[in-house]
Amino acid sequence: MPQRISLKSLNTFGIDVSCSQLFRFRSEKELTALLEDEKIRSQFMVLGGGSNILFCADYNGTILKNEINTLRFDTHEDTALIKAGGGVIWHTLVEECVQKGYTGLENLALIPGTVGAAPIQNIGAYGVEVKDAIVSVRGYSTRTSAFETFENNECAFGYRTSIFKEKFKNEFIITEVTLRVSKKESPNTSYGALQEHLTSAGIKKPSCKDVFDAVCAIRREKLPNPKIMGNAGSFFKNPVIEKEKYESLIKTFPNLPHYAFGDKYVKIPAAYLIDSLGFKGVKRFDANGAQFGVHTRQPLVLVNYGGATGASILTLAEEIQKAVLEKFRIHLEKEVCVVRG
Ligand code: EPU
Repeated sequence: MPQRISLKSLNTFGIDVSCSQLFRFRSEKELTALLEDEKIRSQFMVLGGGSNILFCADYNGTILKNEINTLRFDTHEDTALIKAGGGVIWHTLVEECVQKGYTGLENLALIPGTVGAAPIQNIGAYGVEVKDAIVSVRGYSTRTSAFETFENNECAFGYRTSIFKEKFKNEFIITEVTLRVSKKESPNTSYGALQEHLTSAGIKKPSCKDVFDAVCAIRREKLPNPKIMGNAGSFFKNPVIEKEKYESLIKTFPNLPHYAFGDKYVKIPAAYLIDSLGFKGVKRFDANGAQFGVHTRQPLVLVNYGGATGASILTLAEEIQKAVLEKFRIHLEKEVCVVRG
């Protein structure tokens, strides 16, 4: 039997699955060389930090790990242009910017994963989305067998989505992202929890380093560190529903929180829906005694306490979706990408 390669350390859920073969690429040239191999091309998947994925079975193909770690800053009068390789660790890029005093990415501190994965689901946190800083995205299209560059307005960015997650799903390998940050200290402190944290620390005119520190502190308090407890951040997206539906729901659930989302829609915090159904902190055992559940401080996050399978975590996710649908008539969409084999 050919040797299988374990993916346990390559996905932040820490699911113990395997793949047939694994190759790392450090440049566009290495990537194209790998894709010339028929066996690889027939079935492959590109992995960044493995922080938004749930493996429910072994993967019977090749995993290509993006390790393009190039990072270049070009400074202009008021801005700096960053060209970052797809394999750069996202938080490293944020730290570099903060160290240089560049504003724009500090609210996105501590998001696990890589630069190449960031545009796919348009990562966002504390009032900022990566689309706000992205200039363009370059990568290899397996449809055209060529490198292509998408300008920001061609990426179809939306809440936790983009053209790379929809139309070009699994057919565009992001090798480089160009971002623009500001050399002026003008951080975004619009997010309630962030504003509260800064105010209680007595910071009136925060620098980007203050915002970075505050975001790191809030995340460390609320979200489990995947190095210690397997998880993939928010498992579900916050549902976006029509205003009329919200108006009708609050007749039954007057405390239902919401945020404006354009003129016609509102966004409902999925954490509230899951919390109100009593799922927060639930722990389950699978047939082998492995424990998994819903995080105690952030009900949007499902956790693997050690040794659980992706399939059991998915069963819990489906149970939550069913309960939310039954009580609130709202469909919770998964944010995490589920791989079934
Ligand atoms: N809430 C509860 N119970 C809880 C926690 C939260 O009811 O135990 C409700 C409250 O109404 C609270 C609301 O949920 O006001 C929002 O909570 P929070 O500020 O923690 O943010 P979130 O909407 O749950 C989103 C992102 C996170 C991001 C935070 C901060 C999604 C799917 N998730 O979570 O992103 O860090 O905002 O901006 O949009 C991720 O994508 O992996 C991720 C962690």
